[in-house]
Amino acid sequence: MNVDSPNIKSLLSQSLTQMFLTDRLIRFIDEEGISKLLQSMRRFTIEEAIEAFRQKLGYKLQDRVRLRMAKAIIDLLHECEYLEKNNEFYLWIEGKSIETKLSTDEFKVAKDTFKGQVDFFEKCIIYADKFLNGNPPLYSFDSNSTEIWEEFLGNTEFRFARSVLINLLFSGRDDNANVLALCYGPGFDILQMQEQYNIKVTALDFKDIFQSQASHRIVNPKSVKWIKSELWKGFGTPLPFNGGTFDIVFFTCADPYIPEDSRDYVYRDIFRVLKSKGILGILTRSYPDVERKFVKDPFVRRGTLCHDFSESVCEGWYGFYHAHNSLNLFKAIGYRIDTVMLNASIWRLDKP
Ligand SMILES: C[S@@+](CC[C@H](N)C(=O)[O-])C[C@H]1O[C@@H](n2cnc3c(N)ncnc32)[C@H](O)[C@@H]1O
Repeated sequence: MNVDSPNIKSLLSQSLTQMFLTDRLIRFIDEEGISKLLQSMRRFTIEEAIEAFRQKLGYKLQDRVRLRMAKAIIDLLHECEYLEKNNEFYLWIEGKSIETKLSTDEFKVAKDTFKGQVDFFEKCIIYADKFLNGNPPLYSFDSNSTEIWEEFLGNTEFRFARSVLINLLFSGRDDNANVLALCYGPGFDILQMQEQYNIKVTALDFKDIFQSQASHRIVNPKSVKWIKSELWKGFGTPLPFNGGTFDIVFFTCADPYIPEDSRDYVYRDIFRVLKSKGILGILTRSYPDVERKFVKDPFVRRGTLCHDFSESVCEGWYGFYHAHNSLNLFKAIGYRIDTVMLNASIWRLDKP
């Protein structure tokens, strides 16, 4: 599928996937009895809602990720204007009943066009009830799940976003830039970079499970320097490269897997391996900010909350970070913030 076709752009701009995801999670909230429960509580704080989820729905909300899911539900209901917020208190808006927004036709188009993405989220949401009741994660980064990740990460929307990021990082640069594909996964990052530019790629992930999948996908696997994962134990441990090695570090859809207390380390270490005048490109989402300064689009705000909730059933998910925290972190490390765009999902950071 051509990501540049007017069709794709127009479908993306209609935010169909975001709407699909929102409808799907709202349905889950209804079917689980969450909406009924919240309607029955006169006014409540987030802590009271969590306690009610534990007592009335039996959810095992002890750990960080499951607590975060509960918070995402409340934030979504607030964002969709089912809940009013007054200081720390929430109140179900009088007479407001659960409704979905997509027409049957739109629903079908979303399912057909954004299949990989829509199917992935659907499976995650179906499992969410079990997960909230204490069952283990649905998917991990292991050999049993590589097909699932491939189906999900190859989706049209991410492909479009990667191509925007690639143009932002590479245009105007000389050929043969030395690029680190960090957390390359099923290989879409390398494929798209090779399709668009003539570059030298070094590929690193914390497990080797994706290497053969990625090699089969890309244009020229022999030109890629594959680093054995035994040399890197993942986020929070040093990248196996000397300082000043790369012109560009390409890092997509992996920031929400960085543990919060390792984030400073990870971005400092990327800074270290970049050459002076090197660039870090990040593709992620940012958690909707109250001020609407970073995540402005209402559909994206809702879709991001749903995405955060859904992918929580995957092992190691930490969630989308707040853009202002990211910005402060990047500045403190010494990056120059060149570009933050598309609802703070695409970042270009330069090393002076
Ligand atoms: C959702 S995939 C994204 C893959 C690829 N960048 C893409 O956009 O198609 C997340 C990536 O983060 C990596 N990852 C997950 N947890 C990690 C950890 N603790 N340390 C290092 N990498 C991790 C996975 O191996 C995987 O490549």
